[in-house]
Amino acid sequence: MTRLKAIEIVRNRADLRRAIAALRANGASIAFVPTMGALHDGHLSLVKTGLEKADHVVASIFVNPTQFAPGEDFEAYPRNEDADLKKLESSGCRLVYMPTEEEMYPAGSLTNVRVEDMSDLLDGVYRPHFFYGVATVVARLFIHVQPDIAVFGEKDYQQLQIIRRMVHDLGFAIDVVGAPTVRDPDGLAQSSRNAYLSTEQRRQAGALFAALHRASQRIAAGTDPQTALSEARGHVLVSGFDKLDYIELVDPATLKAQLDASTGPARLLGAAWMGKTRLIDNLACERPTE
Ligand code: PAF
Repeated sequence: MTRLKAIEIVRNRADLRRAIAALRANGASIAFVPTMGALHDGHLSLVKTGLEKADHVVASIFVNPTQFAPGEDFEAYPRNEDADLKKLESSGCRLVYMPTEEEMYPAGSLTNVRVEDMSDLLDGVYRPHFFYGVATVVARLFIHVQPDIAVFGEKDYQQLQIIRRMVHDLGFAIDVVGAPTVRDPDGLAQSSRNAYLSTEQRRQAGALFAALHRASQRIAAGTDPQTALSEARGHVLVSGFDKLDYIELVDPATLKAQLDASTGPARLLGAAWMGKTRLIDNLACERPTE
């Protein structure tokens, strides 16, 4: 175990168990914030949400190899342990779990978690391995940490809904809390991958949010979703993005496309490429009642 001033760092399950037992003394509750490091204000807002809902926040930092396909940015994924630990400490997190790969995936490990169907839509079409890797690592982290609450960002909305489904289906006694996306002044959702953008790309990257925002307003005002979505797709492609994977309107619970005259809450999700950087974003969308 390592201690900074007010934060403890553990790298294996035995130390984690001891540290969690100490935090839980006198019946204190624990909120868990799983991360892959490269922390920004969005992550720190998850810690803040955790502290509002539980006595202590435990975070993890683990760049999970099973959610990267060969050729994706696993090796290049930004890693900055010292800066991450300082940020966690100053945001009030008490304990950080930084497991080794062997701790998360013991040699010969054969067990995976698959949230079928929801993992194959939207981002799952373009990154077919991704949500299977996420569900597997999050299930393992939940078993290691055994929190009362787990906080995930709405920025990764499909991930959040898949984790909710997994928790429901497997009966984890964990309350999954979604925290609002933290945005830069131009609307760009904060993401560790924004660090890959050049100055010029960063200047244009707010266009994804702008397109989703306009589509959400148009749909709320009664525009046919197909029309609003095709305007949004066109807007992204003339605003500096090189390729659009999708912009879709979906049912929040099932993530299935909603293009008919359904009413009530829906979610707009989009993914687009700027050079080699893939950005995702999403927004709530209220459809008119009539
Ligand atoms: O959102 C992330 O950073 C990751 O997908 C998560 C939830 C930490 C699992 O590796």
